Amino acid sequence: MPDRKLRVLVTGAAKRIGRAIAIELSKRGFAVAIHYGESEQNAREVSALCGGAPLFRANLSKVDEIRQMFRQIREEFGLLDCLVNNAARFTQFDPLDITEADWDFIHSVNLKGTFFCCQEGAKMMKEMGAGRIVNISSLGGIRPWAENVHYCASKAGVIMLTKALSKALAPEITVNSVAPGVIAFNDVTPMVQKMIDATPMKRAGAAEEVAEAVHYFLTAPKFITGQIIAVDGGLSQR
Ligand SMILES: NC(=O)c1ccc[n+]([C@@H]2O[C@H](COP(=O)([O-])OP(=O)(O)OC[C@H]3O[C@@H](n4cnc5c(N)ncnc54)[C@H](OP(=O)(O)O)[C@@H]3O)[C@@H](O)[C@H]2O)c1
Repeated sequence: MPDRKLRVLVTGAAKRIGRAIAIELSKRGFAVAIHYGESEQNAREVSALCGGAPLFRANLSKVDEIRQMFRQIREEFGLLDCLVNNAARFTQFDPLDITEADWDFIHSVNLKGTFFCCQEGAKMMKEMGAGRIVNISSLGGIRPWAENVHYCASKAGVIMLTKALSKALAPEITVNSVAPGVIAFNDVTPMVQKMIDATPMKRAGAAEEVAEAVHYFLTAPKFITGQIIAVDGGLSQR
């Protein structure tokens, strides 16, 4: 362990689950860098709550912007010890209506963006000789959702990306994934309520519970890699 705070980048950290992850890791002694796309004001609030954490902006659907952001991180923050790929998009369509643009909208961020962030993060970690990556996938990458076929495919991709990268990047770097079930904010639609009712724990999860699982992987024994933890109140078991 280096004699300094471990440096972690959390993507999509301005709001909701990413915000909770950044705050939790900051509280637990990590030096946190906050990535955001459009939500600059929210990102500034999270930065203040994380002791003035540095902010980095990039549209993660563009590989050149990802690479530029990692160059900036290297210069202004330092090489990363840890990376949490949380940013993602979510849309809902009948699969018969999905256009090429709808498909690319989801996959360009959820799968392509996540992969190229892993690639850039892993280059830094290889230089350091150690590192940890946590990809936020989804219960939708484990169980099929009829109205989110494109999203489910992207998150199943994130799960396999995690497993394959855990082999490719060993032994220096661990790669694991947290798969949230229903994590509710104030957006409970009838379909989400049905999922909450079906959850064995009989409630939605909290963003802080996802954050705790991320913290677990960032501090777990390094013999644990390529693993997926569902933070879903048991919904994946039904
Ligand atoms: N909420 C749930 O119940 C649930 C369930 C299963 C899995 N998940 C997964 O958990 C993670 C967080 O969920 P959430 O509901 O908190 O996510 P969210 O609010 O939908 O999105 C998180 C952030 O992703 C960033 N983002 C999206 N597209 C981007 C792009 N092109 N470039 C840069 N940033 C982009 C946005 O940043 P800006 O606002 O700064 O643009 C957004 O704030 C996601 O991976 C999601 O798939 C969530």
